[in-house]
Amino acid sequence: MSDILVTGATGGLGQAVVENLLKTVSPGDIAVLVRDPAKAADLQARGITVKQGDYNDYASLVAAFQGVDKLFLVSSNDIPNRVSQHTNAVHAAKEAGVQHIVYTSFQRKTEDGSSAAWPIAEAHLLTEKLLKESGLTYTILKNALYLDVLPLFMGPVLDTGTIYLPAGEGKVPYASRADMGAAGAAVLTGTGHENQSYDLSNDTSYSFHDIARILSDLSGKPIQYVSPTAEEFGTALTGAGVPAEAIQMTAGFCAAIAQGEFDFPGTTLEKLLGRKPETAEHFLKATYQL
Ligand SMILES: NC(=O)c1ccc[n+]([C@@H]2O[C@H](COP(=O)([O-])OP(=O)(O)OC[C@H]3O[C@@H](n4cnc5c(N)ncnc54)[C@H](OP(=O)(O)O)[C@@H]3O)[C@@H](O)[C@H]2O)c1
Repeated sequence: MSDILVTGATGGLGQAVVENLLKTVSPGDIAVLVRDPAKAADLQARGITVKQGDYNDYASLVAAFQGVDKLFLVSSNDIPNRVSQHTNAVHAAKEAGVQHIVYTSFQRKTEDGSSAAWPIAEAHLLTEKLLKESGLTYTILKNALYLDVLPLFMGPVLDTGTIYLPAGEGKVPYASRADMGAAGAAVLTGTGHENQSYDLSNDTSYSFHDIARILSDLSGKPIQYVSPTAEEFGTALTGAGVPAEAIQMTAGFCAAIAQGEFDFPGTTLEKLLGRKPETAEHFLKATYQL
């Protein structure tokens, strides 16, 4: 019997949840679901039960979820296929007798398809609906954009001296993936989180002007923020050899940022952590070793 099973444990968020669980939960009460057990050999060595399964393989999920009380369901990163994958996971959890699913969703202002982030948002909304209709106890974690996506969005910013992104004046209360993991573990081990939806974000929102200023202050180099049109952005990055899919993904997120789609600063994350979340200053200083 494993009280808690965490999916996506070979990924950044799942790993962070497991590491935080281990602070208060015996490894014998934790299981993980992974596609490739070899990637979780370290967890197995620490006494965690490693179960092989794939969101695309319903039977593997039903088998893996046997004896599990609480399931931490990390949303898939396979964007085109994740509605069917999440549906498999929720139905399998119900069939296996799981009591409570904690699902990692994401923050949004609109739910009517008008957001530039709709290709990302749609699967989360459908999964939330499925969970609410499942009869299972749920907790929905509407995660803010990670601080960890900033380096991916910005590229080699300290070399170029420019943040070149079509995000306008939009602001985001980015929080670190590590803090999201700690909050996830707090929900799994705490009480009173049944059938709740939480916006997990920092208490401060940052524009890319703010990020440029922070990086300038930390590095001592002038870093500017330039917000091109989506078309200019596409042309420039295509010319630099960036794959079309990556350009489209970044441009979509930036357009949504410009729309204010993710601008929900709050203190729920702080309350779950019992401390202030990591700031952008702290994250950027550590990431760029400044
Ligand atoms: N809020 C944000 O800013 C943000 C940013 C990026 C992503 N996200 C979302 O949050 C999720 C967690 O973030 P992350 O940073 O931990 O992502 P990540 O590092 O890419 O990890 C994704 C995890 O999902 C697992 N997975 C993928 N397809 C699967 C399948 N078919 N069956 C079972 N497991 C599967 C992966 O397993 P393998 O190791 O086998 O590939 C990996 O462990 C992402 O998947 C994505 O939905 C949010």
